[in-house]
Amino acid sequence: MDASAAHPALELRDVTVAYDALRAVDGVTLAVPTGQRRAIIGPNGAGKTTLFNAISGVVLPTAGRVTFNGHNMTRMPPHRRARLGISRTFQITNLFPSLSVENNMVLALRGGSGRKFSLFGSSTRSAQEEIRLGEALAAARLHAHARTPVRELSYGEQRQLELALAIVVSPQLVLLDEPAAGLSPAERRIVADVIRALPRTLTIVLIEHDMDLALGLADHVTCLHEGRVLIEADPDAIRRDARVQEVYLGRPHHA
Ligand SMILES: Nc1ncnc2c1ncn2[C@@H]1O[C@H](COP(=O)(O)OP(=O)(O)OP(=O)(O)O)[C@@H](O)[C@H]1O
Ligand SMILES: [Mg+2]
Repeated sequence: MDASAAHPALELRDVTVAYDALRAVDGVTLAVPTGQRRAIIGPNGAGKTTLFNAISGVVLPTAGRVTFNGHNMTRMPPHRRARLGISRTFQITNLFPSLSVENNMVLALRGGSGRKFSLFGSSTRSAQEEIRLGEALAAARLHAHARTPVRELSYGEQRQLELALAIVVSPQLVLLDEPAAGLSPAERRIVADVIRALPRTLTIVLIEHDMDLALGLADHVTCLHEGRVLIEADPDAIRRDARVQEVYLGRPHHA
């Protein structure tokens, strides 16, 4: 048995993130095996983004432990987690509008999670960079827009670029925070197709409010409610679960 099979890729044990009296994440334990596509669902304020922040290092947990491929990264800064192969997209878009699609990607490649302005260090791209750019552009279905300034992209194409930025760094784990938020049904289908076509070896953790999209992409689902794991199950069981329906009822969803 190799190391990846011996323990899950991502493991959270009793993770709590408290803001004063509020426990945004409250004792969450979960394990995501290598290559799994895990959806994190739950109503607004359930703690989904905070959980991502604790995984990517944007916040440090008040208690608990986060490990990735056996590395305890509970208190690691984000750039070291990026070096371990963790990449993420943000709920709010995070692009440089005056730069072209490919130059945004070069920045992601050279800056790692820090997104430093290393474009100016070297204007020529290595063969390795060209290959990665080409692959990520194709995967995100943006090859026709490589040289287009980001501000000229539609909102849907900007979300596709967010996905391209997350995968161009050749991650092992990618965290997608509402990749289809604010999109039309047609744009959402494109984003879903892009995610579905990602390599099966890549571990994906996806936050998504659109249930059809989340349950259509996921192998396994964790539903959070008030910072805790309400239920963890496969998509069919989640669809039928009365508790899941109950926490979503009467609450505003953002699409
Ligand atoms: N930096 C912060 N300081 C104080 N409270 C915070 C902070 N970040 C999040 N919270 C609170 O923690 C709770 C969980 O927020 P979080 O953003 O993780 O929810 P979410 O599940 O991602 O919600 P949404 O579906 O609206 O994106 C909310 O009550 C939120 O107001
Ligand atoms: Mg959120």
